[in-house]
Amino acid sequence: MAKYKDMGIVVAIDGPSGVGKTTVARLVADKLGLKAVSTGALYRALALYLLKTGVNPANDMALDVALRNVELDQQYIDGRIRTFLNGEDVTEEIESVEVGAMASKIAAIPKVREFLLDVQRRLAEGGAVVEGRDIGTVVLPEANVKVFLDASTGERARRRYEQLRAEGMNISYEQALEDIRRRDFRDASRDVAPLRRAPDAIYIDTTHMTAEEVANRITKLVKELIP
Ligand code: DC
Repeated sequence: MAKYKDMGIVVAIDGPSGVGKTTVARLVADKLGLKAVSTGALYRALALYLLKTGVNPANDMALDVALRNVELDQQYIDGRIRTFLNGEDVTEEIESVEVGAMASKIAAIPKVREFLLDVQRRLAEGGAVVEGRDIGTVVLPEANVKVFLDASTGERARRRYEQLRAEGMNISYEQALEDIRRRDFRDASRDVAPLRRAPDAIYIDTTHMTAEEVANRITKLVKELIP
């Protein structure tokens, strides 16, 4: 079980919003004895900081100062990904639609992506299942196994809706759908690191699959590629 950790194996999972990357990353991590890293949560934690401090990310100088004052960390504790902003656990707070919208906005700023590059690479050290949008293409192009998860827009909105409802958030399916559509547009149309599949990533359409089935497929793939 410790084999993949000892080998420092990195599994990159990319894909659009609401496809279930975090859930799948956790399941795969547990099956392979690795830790799971959610890079979206890092974008969200930085977005939360900007919202809390009232920094307009379009203000270049204010953004520079903010980036100097932000320290992000993530830990995989008992099968849960916990995200820390300047030492404070913000895991629950960063799940709101407002923080997600700000995260999507700042993800288009090159300086922000560069700032988060180091954090993401550091977290992947020693082996990890890392999920995001540009892990296999930009952050960890040397990842041992790369997967691109996809699902229909309606199915992704349904997953997002159910996840937020389970977390006690008051949101309608229509709101979840609107949120997914808006973020899809932003994530795919930005000039900087738009969402795209790495040529060597394995494409999985998860529309009619459960998270467990997707995780089993990926785990099997890793075991076949790295016996
Ligand atoms: O996965 P998520 O919804 O928590 O991510 C929040 C936002 O961060 C999302 O709109 C896109 C952006 N993001 C990114 O640009 N690159 C990543 N590697 C991860 C997230």
